[in-house]
Amino acid sequence: MQRLLALVAVAALLGLRPALATDPYAFFDWDVSYVTAAPLGVKQQASIFRPVIGINGKFPGPVVNVSTNWNVVVNVLNDLDEPLLITWNGIQHRKNCWQDGVLGTNCPIPSGWNWTYEFQVKDQIGSFFYFPSTGLQRAAGGFGGIVVNNRDVIAVPFGRPDGDITIFIGDWYNKNHTDLRKMLDKGKDIGMPDGVLINGKGPYRYNDSLVPAGIEYETFNVHPGRTYRIRVHNVGTSTSLNFRIQGHNVVLVETEGSYTSQQNYTNLDVHVGQSYSFLVTMDQNASSDYYVVASARQVNESLWRRVTGVAVLRYSNSRGAASGPLPDPPQDQNDRTFSMNQARSVRWNLSAGAARPNPQGSFRYSSINVTQAYLLRSTAPVSIDGRRRATLNGLSYAPPETPLRLADAYGVKGVYTLDFPERPLKGAPRIARSVINGTYRGFMELIFQNNDTRMQSYHMDGYAFFVVGMDYGEWTEDSRGTYNKGDGVARSTIQVYPGAWAAVLVSLDNVGVWNVRSENLDSWYLGQEVYVRVVNPEDTGNKTEMAIPDNALYCGQLHKYQKEQTPHHKMGVSAAAPRSLSLARQLVAAALLLAGSFVLAP
Ligand SMILES: *[C@@H]1O[C@H](CO)[C@@H](O)[C@H](O)[C@H]1NC(C)=O
Ligand SMILES: *[C@@H]1O[C@H](CO)[C@@H](O)[C@H](O)[C@H]1NC(C)=O
Ligand SMILES: *[C@@H]1O[C@H](CO)[C@@H](O)[C@H](O)[C@H]1NC(C)=O
Ligand SMILES: *[C@@H]1O[C@H](CO)[C@@H](O)[C@H](O)[C@H]1NC(C)=O
Ligand SMILES: *[C@@H]1O[C@H](CO)[C@@H](O)[C@H](O)[C@H]1NC(C)=O
Ligand SMILES: *[C@@H]1O[C@H](CO)[C@@H](O)[C@H](O)[C@H]1NC(C)=O
Ligand SMILES: *[C@@H]1O[C@H](CO)[C@@H](O)[C@H](O)[C@H]1NC(C)=O
Ligand SMILES: *[C@@H]1O[C@H](CO)[C@@H](O)[C@H](O)[C@H]1NC(C)=O
Ligand SMILES: *[C@@H]1O[C@H](CO)[C@@H](O)[C@H](O)[C@H]1NC(C)=O
Ligand SMILES: *[C@@H]1O[C@H](CO)[C@@H](O)[C@H](O)[C@H]1NC(C)=O
Ligand SMILES: *[C@@H]1O[C@H](CO)[C@@H](O)[C@H](O)[C@H]1NC(C)=O
Ligand SMILES: *[C@@H]1O[C@H](CO)[C@@H](O)[C@H](O)[C@H]1NC(C)=O
Repeated sequence: MQRLLALVAVAALLGLRPALATDPYAFFDWDVSYVTAAPLGVKQQASIFRPVIGINGKFPGPVVNVSTNWNVVVNVLNDLDEPLLITWNGIQHRKNCWQDGVLGTNCPIPSGWNWTYEFQVKDQIGSFFYFPSTGLQRAAGGFGGIVVNNRDVIAVPFGRPDGDITIFIGDWYNKNHTDLRKMLDKGKDIGMPDGVLINGKGPYRYNDSLVPAGIEYETFNVHPGRTYRIRVHNVGTSTSLNFRIQGHNVVLVETEGSYTSQQNYTNLDVHVGQSYSFLVTMDQNASSDYYVVASARQVNESLWRRVTGVAVLRYSNSRGAASGPLPDPPQDQNDRTFSMNQARSVRWNLSAGAARPNPQGSFRYSSINVTQAYLLRSTAPVSIDGRRRATLNGLSYAPPETPLRLADAYGVKGVYTLDFPERPLKGAPRIARSVINGTYRGFMELIFQNNDTRMQSYHMDGYAFFVVGMDYGEWTEDSRGTYNKGDGVARSTIQVYPGAWAAVLVSLDNVGVWNVRSENLDSWYLGQEVYVRVVNPEDTGNKTEMAIPDNALYCGQLHKYQKEQTPHHKMGVSAAAPRSLSLARQLVAAALLLAGSFVLAP
């Protein structure tokens, strides 16, 4: 309590927005810089040290641990040699897309500059994560957890856990992110990852011939008999991972801000960009440590064996190291419904309270009429004007130099078009800056149809959507008959199996410009994203949307409004060049980076 009061007092002293001053503030100071690491070990001849993005020197970054309605203030210093934006996966930024940290809403923070995010985790609970959103930077790290706790007055639908553990799983490449970017720019595939990291660390040496010696691995220290809440995030580039703990069941309790119907699993597929929290009881004997495993899924798993992360669960009374083979992944090579059925089994707990005192299920989504429906079809990468690009409905998005929301605020015309097609376009795919015209207070159906041969997941900023259905084959109007009309879970990231569709419903009550994207970094980088613009035509007084923040950065057609900031690198990076770059040059560099070096003809 004393800490809360202190925070409120500090907020008052700093004279922050009075409207929010009744809710506590949490302040963070982040220096985002490269650290050098070799999480998958160093080979004798070819050293595989590479730059990793750390926050205050740490990889992964710190956990933002706050409660519903708190205000979060993060002062980010960009100590990298390239522009930076941090986005907050699953945080809704109600009325405030200005803080979303994607190119449609924000100019990137130039190298050597700082920028302060300030947002409220309004009416939210649950497990989320943040990451750098542009230029494939997440493949270099820069991510960390966000925990939004229930307010004290609202009961959590399970007993208080004895501990809270955040786990990041994700595929990893020995190549650095600038090299990966170059491959994509040259039209190449980035290929199979070199491994899977768990909390930024390589695999435990469970097998001498498969894992080299000398790799640092993660250990989770626990006490027998206790129950822990484990929050698992797939922060990788593009690989779906099966998460399991040897000898232990995990009880799924929450996903991306919704309490789920509690269910036991021996393993669960966690797709790129997804977050789950589980309760795990340490109910096994401690004759040895146990493996914590994240292994590649929806690929040829025997070919992809090296893409496996292994950490160690160690009871305080453990009598020895873990040994023997890893626990088996699901044996479903000939059953493509297994993973999808598992996904369908994730349901909303209708009676649980969440951010507000009323139960989650009091919003009856099935009684609301759909006002807009978009079928978003993805395919394998295509060639557009001789470049390899990824599309939705035949359009490959190229971010304009002026962020969409900023262009709107200043009445800059012609930056984008509001004509995103409701169905896949016929004819040749093309580059576009086409945006979905969302109707404020409308109810939108989004159907993701994956015509590619690999797994995808899609995320929407600013909202949680209701997952109402998924199946193999082509979606048709009749598919609506199969929708879950009662307890489809509300979340922000949905997996879409190859050759299958997934349908979600979203209530457009949050004004702003919101990113819908492939969470697979390579597809996203190659243009598989779109924005939904939601405007309240009647708003004349900053009621349904917050005003542009005082510290907004300006770029593109609005760069003349930007004041120079004296670059203040703290730690210093080895490359000295960026420090001497003028703002103008940085903005050009930023624009190139953003567009995946794709420059649109005017
Ligand atoms: C996070 O915050 C909650 C509530 O303030 C507190 O109970 C918990 O111990 C914190 N967790 C960590 C890991 O700091
Ligand atoms: C940069 O950081 C300093 C403190 O380190 C802060 O006073 C200033 O407001 C920050 N600038 C921006 C634009 O956020
Ligand atoms: C749903 O939430 C209620 C209310 O908190 C809780 O008592 C119940 O156990 C939960 N049910 C399931 C199946 O998770
Ligand atoms: C990535 O590695 C290449 C060499 O393979 C190097 O030229 C480049 O500077 C590295 N990128 C960073 C950010 O260090
Ligand atoms: C290690 O992996 C190799 C290759 O898959 C396998 O042949 C061997 O039996 C494994 N060793 C142990 C001790 O499990
Ligand atoms: C999960 O399984 C364990 C043992 O198999 C059982 O004790 C527990 O009650 C189950 N929990 C739920 C929520 O089903
Ligand atoms: C502990 O459990 C393992 C696996 O179930 C079993 O093989 C072993 O005998 C048990 N050890 C003790 C001391 O109970
Ligand atoms: C997976 O790869 C192995 C090794 O190349 C091959 O023998 C097997 O047929 C492949 N399985 C499938 C389902 O393609
Ligand atoms: C939904 O549409 C039906 C048929 O057009 C109409 O009868 C009903 O009143 C509508 N429901 C709502 C909540 O608007
Ligand atoms: C966008 O939708 C609104 C209704 O929400 C409509 O009034 C407007 O004309 C549409 N704009 C365009 C360009 O289609
Ligand atoms: C992609 O679409 C074509 C044409 O509808 C269809 O024949 C093919 O099976 C689809 N492939 C996948 C993986 O969905
Ligand atoms: C909206 O907020 C901006 C910035 O605080 C202010 O300049 C403007 O006057 C406000 N508009 C209205 C109608 O209150």
